[in-house]
Amino acid sequence: MTTDPSLQHRLRKDDHIVLAERQQQSPVGRNDFDDVEFLHHALDGIDETGVRLGVRVGEVSWPVPLYINGMTGGSDTATRINRELAITARETGLAMACGSMSIALRHPDTAAGFRVLREENPDGFIMANLGAGRSGEDARRAVELIGADALQIHLNAAQETVMPEGERAFTGWAASVEQMVAAAGVPVIVKEVGFGLSRRTLLRLRDLGVRIADVSGAGGTDFVGIENARRRLGDFAFLGGYGQSAIACLLDAPHGTGPDLLASGGVRSPLDVVKALALGARAAGVAGVFLKPASEGGAEALVPIVRRWLAQLRQLHALLGAAEPAELQRTDLLLRGRVKEFCELRGIDPGSFTRRRDAASPPSPGVPTPDVPTRSGEPNER
Ligand code: FNR
Repeated sequence: MTTDPSLQHRLRKDDHIVLAERQQQSPVGRNDFDDVEFLHHALDGIDETGVRLGVRVGEVSWPVPLYINGMTGGSDTATRINRELAITARETGLAMACGSMSIALRHPDTAAGFRVLREENPDGFIMANLGAGRSGEDARRAVELIGADALQIHLNAAQETVMPEGERAFTGWAASVEQMVAAAGVPVIVKEVGFGLSRRTLLRLRDLGVRIADVSGAGGTDFVGIENARRRLGDFAFLGGYGQSAIACLLDAPHGTGPDLLASGGVRSPLDVVKALALGARAAGVAGVFLKPASEGGAEALVPIVRRWLAQLRQLHALLGAAEPAELQRTDLLLRGRVKEFCELRGIDPGSFTRRRDAASPPSPGVPTPDVPTRSGEPNER
């Protein structure tokens, strides 16, 4: 193992890219998004021309409810991938985050790998990224370094636990998040990295001043698997499957009284995006699924993929009768399998989601008013 900390940092990032791509080569297959099904209403469709995809998240406005989540920066490979992702973001209007900038704060010679986001996309919405545990001053420096419009702060205690050289002290994280939010000077999004944000965590974040949170749940890129593969003995295999999915987190979340929500982790298609929006997310983020095309074919490969996702997102809104993303929260949903079990264990009525449409539209004369969904049938009302 190298003793040069900058090189060690760069090698770790390259490991993450290779191992995350390998997870994409053998796709995860099923995840909790498959346990969410739209109840089809054959006469509820609307004209696609009437669909508007713009969304508001906290004080931020995005043209579409989709963004490229934080992944890379620092090494040569990471810089190349960041450039391709940044060009894709520019060409498609997606907001985009870079990966953790701690390496750039410590080793300024690596900063170019992050500045490329702004160089390639001067007018786009870009997000800086740092882990919890940093100072307010670090938060401000990271934002300034790339001229970011927002800052992502990641909470990755599960990843650090399995990472051979990872952090082992988490007590100070809440206090540091509070300082970073206060000092950043731009909107802050606190995110997980694939293990989910619980209701309790979301309420604590709200009390720390956080107005936007990305639940980034399990079922997609798996950092326990990635870090375990970097351990000589691979002796943390037993932690595989740790954490909750984005779907579970959205169901559990304190909608209306907590931070505005973004959803990521295991988003594989435009259908997964509309499912997340239907459960109260303002937008959905993709990392792993966009990594391989960006790395192998560059923006030339990824731009057509993202354009197809956006066209299909519009079509799915029309099919489901939603003129804008928030209206998807009035669709009827069947929650099955693991997701239904999660609801039952957490005291959420899964049946209430099958009756949201009727509860939202005025009843016809003589038709009894349906049961109004309890606890979480209408995410924005809670
Ligand atoms: C990530 N992710 C991540 N998140 C973060 O906040 N800072 C980071 O530096 C990284 N680094 C990183 C590298 C690679 C190669 C991948 C694939 C991912 C986590 C990412 O933003 C996201 O939360 C998870 O990957 C879950 O989403 P997907 O991959 O299932 O869409």
